[in-house]
Amino acid sequence: MKTEKLLIIANWKLNKTRSEIEAWLTEFTDLLAYWLTDSPAHQPTDLPEIALAPAFPYLRAILNPSGLEPFYKAAAQDVSQFLHGGAYTGEVSAKQLKDTGVKYIIVGHSERRQHLGETNADVNEKVTRCLENDLIPIICVSNLDEVEALTPNLQHLTFNNQQLTIAFEPIEAIGTGQPETPENAQKIALAIKDRLGDNTQVLYGGSVDASNVTDYTELPEIDGVLVSGASLDAADFAELVEKVA
Ligand code: PGA
Repeated sequence: MKTEKLLIIANWKLNKTRSEIEAWLTEFTDLLAYWLTDSPAHQPTDLPEIALAPAFPYLRAILNPSGLEPFYKAAAQDVSQFLHGGAYTGEVSAKQLKDTGVKYIIVGHSERRQHLGETNADVNEKVTRCLENDLIPIICVSNLDEVEALTPNLQHLTFNNQQLTIAFEPIEAIGTGQPETPENAQKIALAIKDRLGDNTQVLYGGSVDASNVTDYTELPEIDGVLVSGASLDAADFAELVEKVA
């Protein structure tokens, strides 16, 4: 089952300073506002759900874009696996992120697995913290083995019928300009929904840009995209969003 509104997440990774983010938000908002007035056929309801994931210090800029019409929600790039209130220097808890107004949390990105040794067990803990705090985890997996490893915990976790969102991102496709074929992305999305339930939201990520985004968003089992490289420039990202809308 495809969700009604597509979800597009911009993952800025370790990029952007405050002034760059402010300039990006102004340009992006202006471009979308222009697109909306450009044709009576363009309606705000046509826009996908958009979430921006800056580094932690800049979440406030996304949440409080002074005076700008917010076309987007805030997403964090990570969350602590630990419960709020412990002695864990440097960590940011799910409770703190919820309190800040964040809606989505990217969990288990392959770069964190690769460079920071994050394991499926860590990912399970982080997903648990998100769901306990009513945050929507965007659970990144590179292959079906990772889905398999997470499945027993995920099946236990879906208390209150909370939304599970899986982002399928093959490592070879990330930042390489060589995306997974839409046929394979569709096949994997179907396999994920078979294991985790038809109401699971599946995103595709890996070298998505304005030229190929609809090859994925038009697939019957793909509910959105996770984009990094093509989200760093506001005009590129606005073009991508307009293609989907
Ligand atoms: P990319 O990265 O869009 O630059 O390929 C995607 C990701 O890492 O989430």
